[in-house]
Amino acid sequence: MGTATAADLTDLDELRRAVSRCTACDLYRDAEQAVVGTGPPSARLMLIGEQPGDREDREGAPFVGPAGRVLDRALAAAGIRREDVYLTNVVKHFAHEQRGKRRIHRKPNAAEIRACRPWLDAELRLVRPDVIGLLGATAAQALLGRSFRITEQRGEVLEWEGHEAVATLHPSAVLRTPKERRDEVFDGLVADLRVLAHRLAGAGG
Ligand code: URA
Repeated sequence: MGTATAADLTDLDELRRAVSRCTACDLYRDAEQAVVGTGPPSARLMLIGEQPGDREDREGAPFVGPAGRVLDRALAAAGIRREDVYLTNVVKHFAHEQRGKRRIHRKPNAAEIRACRPWLDAELRLVRPDVIGLLGATAAQALLGRSFRITEQRGEVLEWEGHEAVATLHPSAVLRTPKERRDEVFDGLVADLRVLAHRLAGAGG
């Protein structure tokens, strides 16, 4: 990590400042900026994605590009207000390859995920959500272990360190699906988000 103090941070503003200086892996070199979570510090639901994409890297906020638009539609369909959710990513800098003028997303590797982990742990400690939604394999495996399989356990209510956790597809999976099956995949994402909505209602919401 850039500082040795992620575990000592006392609020999300401090976290934002500390992450913006992070040089714990090389991703900061080719990124515009670090992207930390957004949302109410007391959110009862935290959604965790993989890493910022091209748009997020330019704008400095998570899920503001094409995958974010899918997520917005899915949240609305599941009856969850985006403004009530703390939205973040496992990795805070955009991992990509440059091809000509285009910056192509690449999956963050294990060392990058490990280097960034203290920031995610700090967000989890500071926000203390009742329920965690894990969007895609990178997020699910970061918290639930490398053997976790989204295809087998998505939508199940699991436990992670005293929090309820539900894994689902990454919204970008909807975008990658051929048109004929896209609605079906989207509906699956919504169904899993509804599980989260029910857990929130059950947890006194
Ligand atoms: N994909 C993610 O996982 N996170 C974002 O913030 C944007 C796209």
